[in-house]
Amino acid sequence: MTESRFLIGLISDFPENSMQAVTVADQDFLIVHQEGQFYALPNQCTHARFPLEDGELLEGKVKCQYHGASFDLKTGRPSLPAVKKIKLYTTSIEKDEIFVVLQET
Ligand code: FES
Repeated sequence: MTESRFLIGLISDFPENSMQAVTVADQDFLIVHQEGQFYALPNQCTHARFPLEDGELLEGKVKCQYHGASFDLKTGRPSLPAVKKIKLYTTSIEKDEIFVVLQET
C-alpha cells in the first residue's frame, strides 16, 4: 500500500469555520477548516449517502441536514440515525497549500 498526496487547494480558499466540497483524484471530499485545523472526509453521509456539504458545521462536528446525524471531526464517530463512522483522511499543509493523503493499493 502506498500513500499519495493530492493538492486540495490554497489555504486562503478555505476560510476559518467553513466547509466546502472538492473533488480530488476522482473522489468527493468535504474540507472543513475549524480552529486552525483542516479536516478531510467523504462528502457523503454514512446514513443514506446524501451529501454532507448541504449540512451544517457545528463545534467539532458536521451535521447532516437530511436526518440529523452528526459526525465528530476528530474521531469520525456518528450520532443516530447514522451508525457507521465517517472516514477521516490525513491532511497536510505545505507553504500555503493543503493536501489530502490517500492510500492506494
Ligand atoms: S443521510 Fe445523513 S442523516 Fe440521513
